[in-house]
Order: sequence, then structure tokens, then C-alpha cells
Amino acid sequence: AHSVITIDGPAASGKSSIARLVAQRLGRTYVNTGNMYRAVTWAVLQAGVDPQDADAVRAFATGMVLESPVVDGKTQVCISGRTPTDADLNSDPVNRAVSFVARVDEVRNRLVADQRALAATGPLVMEGRDIGSVVFPDSPNKIYIDASEEVRASRRGAQGHADQIAERDRIDKQRKNSPLVIPAGATVIDNSHITLDQAVEQVIAALHL
Ligand code: CDP
Repeated sequence: AHSVITIDGPAASGKSSIARLVAQRLGRTYVNTGNMYRAVTWAVLQAGVDPQDADAVRAFATGMVLESPVVDGKTQVCISGRTPTDADLNSDPVNRAVSFVARVDEVRNRLVADQRALAATGPLVMEGRDIGSVVFPDSPNKIYIDASEEVRASRRGAQGHADQIAERDRIDKQRKNSPLVIPAGATVIDNSHITLDQAVEQVIAALHL
């Protein structure tokens, strides 16, 4: 498998913007695993399944077909033949439900297997919550992106959609399976008070390539 640069961190920490730019700079494919959990959640809601009913979500996950084709240097998510839009993935109902769906083992097992399979296709920058801790624990290049709660809330507010980021962080950190943690050996970069470009430079400087 090719090498994977892992980037983890809490909600609205800036990790998606940073990861996308790092991938561009290095000519790697960018994989946003949050969008995979969001796509499953969107499909769960479309199917009328209660996202807080773990048994129903488990049954739904067993039948879903997920594909992650690479388009313009980044993976898209296609679920059972449909491709949700960015607006679908970042909608208020998905924000409210995604951390419940992401707690279900079957959902995680399916997505983690797909994430590992993507590493066979080429060098990646993969971003999420458990990429350095669980998906690729042997990666020599692990980054954890943080920012203060105030900065994260104001960045998400500026993007114009409602999001309970403190609530999602609480569920993501407290779940039993693959909780959000700083992975062993990760370089922690707090980008509360630096620019996006400076954060990208700090990530690149921390890599062993
Ligand atoms: O964009 P933002 O940082 O707010 O969130 P995201 O990266 O799109 O992730 C959305 C949700 O998916 C998270 O709150 C987690 O519940 C879940 N997730 C996860 O459990 N594991 C991952 N590797 C990525 C996301």
C-alpha cells in the first residue's frame, strides 16, 4: 500500500481546508472520511430510518453499497448509486444525526475497510477522527489539528449552516469504538491564531517524506 498522511481533529477545526491544500501541494489524493459518515447519514435519513436507533442503522448499513471514486484529485461518495451534493452532506439534519450514525460498529467497520482499500490506489492525505489512531496506526505521518472552541464555533458560523459542534465533539470523544483522540506519535498543530497558509506550512514541515 502507498503511504497515507493522516489528519485528525475535532469539528470545524480547519482540518478539511488544511488537508485539501496539503494534498494539492504534494500531488496526493484527498480523502474526507467525514463525508463518508455524512453520506451514510444522509441515506439513513432519506430511507426514513431513525438515526438514534442503532439496530435499524446496523440493518441499513448491511445493505448499503458505498463507492469512493476519485474525481479531480479527491474522493467523491456514492451511496447505493446516488451521489449526495455538498449541501446534502452539510445540511442541518445530517449535522444533528451524523455522530449517532458514526457510533454504530457496522457502519465504522464498513467505512474503515473502504478507507484502507483506498490506500492501494495511490498516495493519500486522509482526514477524519480516527485515521491516525485506528485506520492507519502505523503511518509515520500523523497530524492532529486543533483550534479553540470559540474559533471553531465562529468558523462554522461563517460557513452559514447550523451545527452543534460541541455536542458532536462530546459524542465523538465519548463513544466506545474509535473515539476522537490525539493519535500516538501525532504532531499537534493548533491553528486558532495562525493563517490557513501557515497551518499548511507547519503540516508540511512536520512530515517525513
Ligand atoms: O466537518 P467537520 O469537522 O465538522 O466534521 P466531519 O469531519 O465532516 O465529520 C462528521 C462526523 O462524522 C463527526 O462528527 C463524526 O461523528 C464522524 N466521523 C467519524 O466518526 N470518523 C471519521 N473518521 C470521520 C468522521
